[in-house]
Amino acid sequence: MKVAILMGSDSDLPRLEACFEKLRELEIPYEARVLSAHRTPDAAVRYVREAPAKGVRVFICAAGSAAHLAGVVAGHTDLPVIGIPLDNPPLGGLDALLSTVQMPGGVPVATVAVGGGGPMNAALLAARILALVDAPLARRLEQFRVGQTEKVLQKDAALQARLAAR
Ligand code: RP5
Repeated sequence: MKVAILMGSDSDLPRLEACFEKLRELEIPYEARVLSAHRTPDAAVRYVREAPAKGVRVFICAAGSAAHLAGVVAGHTDLPVIGIPLDNPPLGGLDALLSTVQMPGGVPVATVAVGGGGPMNAALLAARILALVDAPLARRLEQFRVGQTEKVLQKDAALQARLAAR
């Protein structure tokens, strides 16, 4: 297993589907756990310490509200940590964004967008890190990027055709 996805609560799970899906699509083995920086701090830290021996090379940490999970994980590992701030009510994710992105110097967390493409980008960023030493994965990532470009160009061509027909 190469990627460990940690989430602060099972209520976060539905918003991580795009992350799981992209990792599956890129054939990256991952594990997902519900472990909280606040509610299960000892278990979370134990997991982080034991993860490298299981093959984990990148952590993805998703949390909402007072989102300290990514920062706590980053404080207990030298592996790269990607934070996904989640858009919980009542503050809509600004709280989680600031809690995740505003790390003190010396403890980096690569923070992706709140909502939208954030969870998928977390998977893609993890894939880009792993692809540095995994040539087949680098090729799968390139195929994804080229395919994505083609889809957008096809949509633009369709738009141009519709406008020309008016
Ligand atoms: C955070 O608190 C979790 O990541 C979750 O987004 C939020 C609320 O958790 P629940 O009250 O839904 O379990 O730590």
